[in-house]
Amino acid sequence: MLIQRNGQSWLVHTPAKLNLHLEIIGRRDDGYHELETCMVSVDLFDSLRFRPARADLRLVVSPRAAAPADEHNLVLRAATALRQHTGCNQGADIQLVKRIPAQAGLGGGSSDAAATLVALNLLWGLNLPTSELHQLAAGLGSDINFFVERTPMAICRGRGELVEPIDTTRRMDFVVCHPGFGLGTAEVFQQCELPRQPRTVAKFAASLSQSRIALHNRLNDAAVSLRPELNKLRAAFASAIAGPSQLTGSGSAWFGIAPNRRAAVCCARRLHGAGFGRAFPVSTVSGHGAC
Ligand code: C5P
Repeated sequence: MLIQRNGQSWLVHTPAKLNLHLEIIGRRDDGYHELETCMVSVDLFDSLRFRPARADLRLVVSPRAAAPADEHNLVLRAATALRQHTGCNQGADIQLVKRIPAQAGLGGGSSDAAATLVALNLLWGLNLPTSELHQLAAGLGSDINFFVERTPMAICRGRGELVEPIDTTRRMDFVVCHPGFGLGTAEVFQQCELPRQPRTVAKFAASLSQSRIALHNRLNDAAVSLRPELNKLRAAFASAIAGPSQLTGSGSAWFGIAPNRRAAVCCARRLHGAGFGRAFPVSTVSGHGAC
């Protein structure tokens, strides 16, 4: 997450994420699933500008069709949660430029919510420690804590809100394809069969120092059964890049590891040209400032 002060306003560029490993450990009594997942920040960013305002919270989203600008948007829910938690009655004018596709498993809404908590804490001079921002983030959704942590890579557990950063300098290049439709997180989780023997994250962690990364996402088959078109996308990835590919989060975006950025650009062109939707290259972000 890149944060800049410009006079009285704050500008934030906040990244997307990919899940390199996602395993379901079990079902919980609160209706959620216990997870073990590895997330990486990648260089596709939404941008948010926060300006001081008297008392109202106002959100403008562009392009307008990319996300709602009302209380369904996690940005306004995060701002409201921050005001309720602190008793702050200041307002803000928020402009959100969406580049991360919604309902894609790329964490766009969660990243925007994390950016809102971090930036309004600064704009309103609240001085909340990161631990308190984490508490608020966990109350708003499962992936927001990863972005509040501002780390390049982490293992996330619980609902996803318990974040253990991984110290790695490994650069990775990916090609991501958004098939033009979204998938509902709850629906995909509901469709998923629980593994009898969950795969531990250890195999994935060990593969980080090897040439071939051991990708895994337990939600792949559930997403494919809801949208069989994803099978074609899976096959297209298999012929376009030699490496493994899978769903990110609960989808609908599919991604694969490319040997380098150039190969990712070529593969994205091929997928886009073949009519698979919006395909683009992304890379891991370097330096904690950008996460
Ligand atoms: O955390 P978030 O509100 O984005 O999750 C949306 C839905 O996805 C939840 O209501 C739940 O049905 C499902 N989910 C789950 N287990 C998780 C995370 C999400 O079952 N760890």
